Order: sequence, then structure tokens, then C-alpha cells
Amino acid sequence: MITTADVKIPASPLERVIGQEEAVSISRICAKQKRHLLLVGVPGTGKSMIALALASILPKATQEISVMHNFERPERPIIEVRTCADALKEKHDPAALGKPINPEDLPVHVSERLGFRCRSCARLSRPSLNICPGCGSDKYKLDSSPFDDLLLNIDNHKLERRVQTTRLADGKEKAVAYELTPNEKVRMISHEELKKLRKMEEKKPRKVILPSERNQFVQATGANEAELLGDVKHDPYGEHSQIGSPPYQRVVPGAVHEAHEGVLFIDEITTLGSLQRYLLTAMQEKKFSITGKNASSTGAIVRVDDVPCEFILVCASNINDLRQMLPALRSRIDGNGYEVLMNSHMPDTPANREKLVQFMAQEIAKDSRIPHADVEAVESILNEARKMARDVDNAKNSLTLRLRKLAGLLKLAGDMAVVADSDVITKEFVAKALKRARSAEEQLDERYDNWWQRESTDFGARKRQPAGAASSASEFR
Ligand SMILES: Nc1ncnc2c1ncn2[C@@H]1O[C@H](COP(=O)(O)OP(=O)(O)O)[C@@H](O)[C@H]1O
Ligand SMILES: [Mg+2]
Repeated sequence: MITTADVKIPASPLERVIGQEEAVSISRICAKQKRHLLLVGVPGTGKSMIALALASILPKATQEISVMHNFERPERPIIEVRTCADALKEKHDPAALGKPINPEDLPVHVSERLGFRCRSCARLSRPSLNICPGCGSDKYKLDSSPFDDLLLNIDNHKLERRVQTTRLADGKEKAVAYELTPNEKVRMISHEELKKLRKMEEKKPRKVILPSERNQFVQATGANEAELLGDVKHDPYGEHSQIGSPPYQRVVPGAVHEAHEGVLFIDEITTLGSLQRYLLTAMQEKKFSITGKNASSTGAIVRVDDVPCEFILVCASNINDLRQMLPALRSRIDGNGYEVLMNSHMPDTPANREKLVQFMAQEIAKDSRIPHADVEAVESILNEARKMARDVDNAKNSLTLRLRKLAGLLKLAGDMAVVADSDVITKEFVAKALKRARSAEEQLDERYDNWWQRESTDFGARKRQPAGAASSASEFR
């Protein structure tokens, strides 16, 4: 039997994007020439996917950035940029200490604090994913005590890199530390090694804010000022020389800094509001000072100048919001980059149908919990793609490129197949899924098809909309 399992999936993330040839070829130019990119279009057409793919083809980062203690003026820590090669050569390589440990073997509280374990559903995932792939909740969010911040030294929403605790070894309780390495592995550092490590750190009081090994895709959608531009944390003990922590240790980079030599992706760019202004400055200057953002905090007097932030800005917007984009920012992208309008549908040709089949195979492989689809199931999904192009975009002889929606349908059909113990998705499951996939509005229409009856129920408040308007309105959220 031929199924989507027989379809070849390209290895390169950019080649997995279908129907957006212009956006893809321009992304290649942006990666090569370090240009900015504005993607405009309806949801679910691949804007985020393209931004991620663009980051994946960038050359590896070459710089490591640290803040150093300033002995004369502690409130003005100094920035140091080293090449990754030099950073590696530094004599005492603290990273050589300790032994690697599997995240599954971590104590529960350590796993949570390092960002592996979800506080809501206990599922383990990479610390850099702040939304749990299991239950969709914010992994680091604490809803226990308002003092956790202070007590646990948790930089709200950011994960800790090193957690110290004790461990029973040979019947004796010993101090150990678990440290998250930049590539999201964990090493266990013994008491003795910890002492050594502290000495090394004391000798050269620095904090690496941008390690050599890092993710070159940084997402700043909906970021607040501190998240976008960096911050200096409050120290509850002020400048107390023994128990207080020196300013350089409290410097936290913003998304603009973390995206240095990488991609800064901002979805729904207009939600940044007035912060767009700072983004523009960061793009022009290619550096941006980090200051404490809370005026009443001890961090407010600290400032680190000239923190590099040379990134490729990729931002996305829908057509309607474009007017709220800061004109200067938009012209900056225009003058040093590209604007691309995403396609919402493509002509119904054999070549394009083949691309949609590739898309289905990709989605099934990516989901990993659903079986492959047979030829008839593929046909009925293609039919649905035609219907969507016609109904939503008024495009004849076309296939939709609102692929998030189509992927949803495929996954639903896959779930139906799993529930029915079938090892392949057939057209029957697609038909079932189509029934299930109706929006709440459509279900409402079916349940209360009599207008008067509906107006006199709980749902009466809902405004009547002309036919078709309900589904396209939800398209644009
Ligand atoms: N052009 C495309 N080619 C292949 N898959 C796509 C495409 N557009 C969307 N998808 C699928 O839908 C998902 C959501 O798309 P996304 O990139 O988040 O859309 P947008 O950012 O435009 O709202 C993607 O992760 C991918 O699985
Ligand atoms: Mg998106």
C-alpha cells in the first residue's frame, strides 16, 4: 500500500516550506547578506516556520560576550567580547569539571528549577521551551508563594543555570551542584569541584551573558521592555559587601542581545507598541546599553554600555495591523531588507498537489503520534484544500496555503485513526475529522438552525453575521 510514509521529506528546513517560493528565496538572501525581513500575511501560512528556518542556515556564532566586574565603579560593569575560539582556549576551562548526568535522573526540584520539568504536568522538555509541549502551560511560572522569587532566587520566567543541593553518597550527605550547560545538557559538580570552580570564578569576576554555544533563533513576541532590552535584577541585600551580589552578576541580557549574530523574531510586530522605537535604535547602533528597568530597584543605578546586538530582524504582521507599525522601523527594513507578502493559496497544478502531499508527510512525521495517510485520505484532504481556497479566499482552481488549519485537520484524522486502532489514516477518518473540526460558530448554526430559537437562548448575545463571515473572522482572530 502506498502511503505518505513513502514521500521524501527534505532535510533542509527551508525546503520544507511549501508554496512560498518568494519568501524562501529572499530568506536565503537575508541569511547571506544579513538583511532584515518583514513577512506579511494571514495566520498559518509559514511565517514563523520561515524565521526559524532562516536562523538554521546562519553561520555559527563567532563571539562570546561577558560582563566583567568593574573594581573602581561596580555599578558600571564592563562588557567583554571574545572570539569563541579564545573563550575556549582560556586556561582553566570550568566546563571540563563535573560529570554529565541525564535530565531524567535529576531530583524533581532540581529538574523544575533548571527548566526541564513542567510544574503543572511533570513532563520533561528542553529548558529553552518555556511553554510545556505536554500541557501548554508556562513551565516556569510559580503560583505558590509571592516570596519564591526571593527565596529560590528565581529570576521570574528565566531558568536557573546552577542549582545547589545535597546528595546522599556512601551514607554521607554531600553538597553537590547541578549545572545546565549552554547546549542544554546537565553536569553534576561535586563539593570539591565546586570549590575549585568558585576560585576560578573569583579570579576573573565575569558573567557570560552570551555563551558561544547558543540558539541563534530568539523569539521576542509580546516581550516587555526588560525582556526585549535587558535588565539588572534587584538585590534585596543592596550593596552589602558580604551577602549582597555585585552588580555585574545581576545583569540580564535582553532578546536583542541574545539574538546577536542570529535572528530576532517578532510575531505580530505591532503588539510591541512604543518599544518598536528602541528596536529601531538597536538595529541602527548594533549595540544597546543594559540598565535596571525597575526605577525603585537597586538595579536602576547599574548600567552596562555598548552591549553588542547585531541581529537579523524577522518580523511578521497581518495586513490589517501594518498601519500600526512604526513607519521609521518599517522604512529601516525597507532600506536594509525585504518585505514579502505571503501567499494564501496556490494554483491547483500537479506540482503543487505534490507539494501539499509533501506537507502532509511532514506534518505526520513531525507529530509522531499519528499514522500515515493512504492515497484516498490524501485525496480528500486535497479536496478540502481546494474548498478552503474557494470558500475562504474566493480563489478558484486553487489550493489553500493556510496550512496550520489543514495540519489541524490531518492531526484530528490521525487521532480518529489511533482511537479506532487503525495503522493508517483512511478517507473515513478524514470525513469524521471534518465533522469534528467545525468551529464553534458552525456548530452553533447547526444546533440552533432556527434564528428565533437561537436568539432566545444563551447564545442570543452573539451577533448575526452574514454567511461565511464567521469563519473568515476567526481566521484573522
Ligand atoms: N508554507 C508552509 N509549508 C509547510 N508547512 C507549513 C507552511 N505554513 C504553515 N505550515 C505548517 O503550519 C504550522 C504553523 O505555521 P506558522 O509558521 O506558525 O504560521 P504563521 O507564523 O504564518 O502563523 C507550521 O509549523 C507548519 O507545520
Ligand atoms: Mg506564527
